[in-house]
Amino acid sequence: MDTASNQALRRALDLLIDPPVDPDTSKGYLDLLGAGSDAPKNSGTIQKWWASPVGSMLYDRAQLLNRRLLAVTRPPVDWLNIPSGGVVLDVGSGPGNVTAALARAAGLDGLALGIDISEPMLARAVAAEAGRQVGFIRADAQRLPFRDETFDAVNSIAVLQLIPDADAALSEMVRVLRPGRRIAVMVPTVGRGPVRLLSKGGARFFGQDEIGDIFEELGLLRVRTKSVGAIQWVRGQKP
Ligand SMILES: C[S@@+](CC[C@H](N)C(=O)[O-])C[C@H]1O[C@@H](n2cnc3c(N)ncnc32)[C@H](O)[C@@H]1O
Repeated sequence: MDTASNQALRRALDLLIDPPVDPDTSKGYLDLLGAGSDAPKNSGTIQKWWASPVGSMLYDRAQLLNRRLLAVTRPPVDWLNIPSGGVVLDVGSGPGNVTAALARAAGLDGLALGIDISEPMLARAVAAEAGRQVGFIRADAQRLPFRDETFDAVNSIAVLQLIPDADAALSEMVRVLRPGRRIAVMVPTVGRGPVRLLSKGGARFFGQDEIGDIFEELGLLRVRTKSVGAIQWVRGQKP
């Protein structure tokens, strides 16, 4: 491990519950799913698409345009209140540009880690964004590999709709968040018209209060939801 991005992965190893004896970083990310996972799988068309080289490339281009045009698709970096030198987690990081934006907010001594299950997405993220303060890990959101109360902020954009056990993923995100720190997730809510067709591809839609209620059940404070069309942000703070 000698490149700049491997410095980030070396720091990431210190945050794991069960660090591997012989870590696989051969593809530029730390692969923790090489031996498989017992987490439930999404076998729908949309996740298959995000797990393919062509699908991940098309998603990467589309999300860049989306984020330029639609403010609601950008992460609430200021609200997350990331301290200088803080450690941030981006769950379902896809092409990794949001992870890199979170790292910039954490300053020169900060660290942002993106986790994803898709190898082509991780390959794109590593090529475009990996560096001294940005690292990527192949892991499942339903079984986060990190120790309790590790992160100064947790962010997840457009991922929970693809996760079979979204409650488990949310509970994991809150578990790894430090007390007093903030979490923000973006999900699609029950929509009208063509957007509903996405459910045929294995993506689910959440009720208006569903994620907010789960946040409260998990003990989060200052739970806020904001919906724009079928896109909803839910934010909360760990006591
Ligand atoms: C629509 S993309 C969003 C990517 C990124 N958050 C963004 O906003 O650009 C959804 C991502 O979630 C990932 N994903 C799906 N299920 C996952 C799981 N169980 N654990 C981790 N990542 C997952 C997919 O591989 C994909 O990269």
